Amino acid sequence: MALEFRTLDRTLDRASFDCGIPELNEFLKREARQQQSHGFNVTFVLVNTDNPTKILGYYSVMSSNMEASLPPKVAKKLPKHPIPAARIGRLARDLSTKGQGIGEKLMVNALERIKRISTEIGIYCVIMDAKNDAAKSFYLKYGFIPFVDAPMSLFLPLSFFLYVVSRHQTPLLRELEAIF
Ligand SMILES: CC(C)(COP(=O)(O)OP(=O)(O)OC[C@H]1O[C@@H](n2cnc3c(N)ncnc32)[C@H](O)[C@@H]1OP(=O)(O)O)[C@@H](O)C(=O)NCCC(=O)NCCS
Repeated sequence: MALEFRTLDRTLDRASFDCGIPELNEFLKREARQQQSHGFNVTFVLVNTDNPTKILGYYSVMSSNMEASLPPKVAKKLPKHPIPAARIGRLARDLSTKGQGIGEKLMVNALERIKRISTEIGIYCVIMDAKNDAAKSFYLKYGFIPFVDAPMSLFLPLSFFLYVVSRHQTPLLRELEAIF
């Protein structure tokens, strides 16, 4: 068995995917491919090579910019013009894989991908929108910071990336303490 990330395509079994949140299931089944074909976002899925059409989890990414307000201590160090960002629009694992580390694999792969792209296009941070409090607490675990005026939207400066992927939470928390 090997886990592998693939770009969403027609060969994958989207119909049986169920993460427990109808809106996120529907996006994968009905909208993701169409949006991808228009260049609005790209969806990546995680599969097991033994059963390569079964989707274990997915996330979608797009370019974005900061619209909500940053904490004042962060904002004062940054220019006034729009700040470039990448947005992880959706991220979900199939209920059959609950608690097996798939959510973390999706998160780390998305951040690694964005970090790679940031060597070619300017990206200050990653933005995620939490659908509910459980999702928000998952993002907080990885160091995401809520926007001041939109607390269900969170951002992670890419400079914190290494701490997240290596799960060295202590230095991350020390850096965050220095900022807030
Ligand atoms: C949020 C979600 C992706 C987590 O995926 P998962 O595969 O169950 O989580 P993992 O097994 O990878 O957990 C990784 C770590 O996060 C922790 N964690 C998982 N869910 C958490 C939550 N809701 N709050 C806080 N921590 C959480 C785990 O305990 C684990 O930490 P540990 O290794 O220190 O024990 C998953 O619950 C999901 O897909 N939910 C439905 C869709 C959704 O809400 N998506 C987000 C909105 S777009």
